[in-house]
Amino acid sequence: MPATIPVTRTSASRLTPQLRDTAPFGAVFSDHVLVSDFADGQWGEPRIVPYGPQALPVAPAVAHYGQGIFEGLKAYPQEGGGVAVFRVDANHARMNRTTARMAMPEIPASIFIDGTLALVALDRDWIPATPGSALYIRPVMFATGEPLGVRPSDHYRFVIETCPSGPYFSGAVDLLAEETYVRAFPGGTGEAKCAGNYAGSLVAAREAQARGFHNVIWLDGIERRYVEEAGLMNIVFVIDGTVVTPPLGGTILPGITRASILTLLRDAGVPVEERRIAIDEVFEAHAAGRLHAAAGVGTAATIAPIGRLRHRDREIVVAPITPESPLGRVGAELEAIRTGKAPDRHAWMRAV
Ligand SMILES: Cc1ncc(COP(=O)(O)O)c(C=O)c1O
Repeated sequence: MPATIPVTRTSASRLTPQLRDTAPFGAVFSDHVLVSDFADGQWGEPRIVPYGPQALPVAPAVAHYGQGIFEGLKAYPQEGGGVAVFRVDANHARMNRTTARMAMPEIPASIFIDGTLALVALDRDWIPATPGSALYIRPVMFATGEPLGVRPSDHYRFVIETCPSGPYFSGAVDLLAEETYVRAFPGGTGEAKCAGNYAGSLVAAREAQARGFHNVIWLDGIERRYVEEAGLMNIVFVIDGTVVTPPLGGTILPGITRASILTLLRDAGVPVEERRIAIDEVFEAHAAGRLHAAAGVGTAATIAPIGRLRHRDREIVVAPITPESPLGRVGAELEAIRTGKAPDRHAWMRAV
């Protein structure tokens, strides 16, 4: 058993079925948070406390030099009772790849994993009652030092907060291939889950939305030719029955949904190619009737079918994902594993 994390329970729970089941995603947080502060070269004892403000310096280092990073994962109610977290070890490993890139201290499993499990156990009643719901878990770490000077901070805070996440009924997402801005480039921070990557993407999403799209398709930062990601998701195409997805190579966030889907597809004997795919190839495959489906994949939606796809002055509408298709089947299988309805043969679930 992991060491027990001290808990101060709230004396005024805000939990009501109405708030939990109807609040828009991310608008309300569960009753408790985990907090740990880093100073003198080590993490302090983590504590679970009621959700609410925590004192900070007036202008912590994160606001100057941008050492701010985060993760996102979910806990699912299980068939027959109980709650389990999906791939918490993979999110922990990814956060520590991000800390390494951003010159931040590693976060130990005793805080990230044990803290997640303890917090979910405490606030599991915040999972909405509607089938398909989950508890969204948001670990975040940021520099809290005060001294000025561009160097790694010597003070950090790690927080885990959670919020109710109702079922995600994704219609098709319409995407515009981005030509002005780039998300990442070789040697940059594209594969790190750092705040700056998201700040830099906001204006692109806003401009795409003004043109009637949900988000952008990011193209590579050098030639603006190869597809990288679908807004805040990884991207997959089904071409002639083969699932094709851009390779991880430093510029793409290594999505845990992406990795899980590729594993399940390979298990099922579906051909998978991790290779560069030019935006021209996507349009050519569509013109030849070989583009069977395209989707964004990520924790929020799992698999979000792509509808309209535009690049410069050409636009296509991609066919919907059918339940019998490779993406339809793998989406259903992943859902069944997450909810304990199918065997967890890769040991992805951690019961709380
Ligand atoms: C830029 C970006 N790409 C891809 C993903 C999908 O990653 P995951 O499947 O781990 O949620 C996310 C979400 O975390 C993201 O922010």
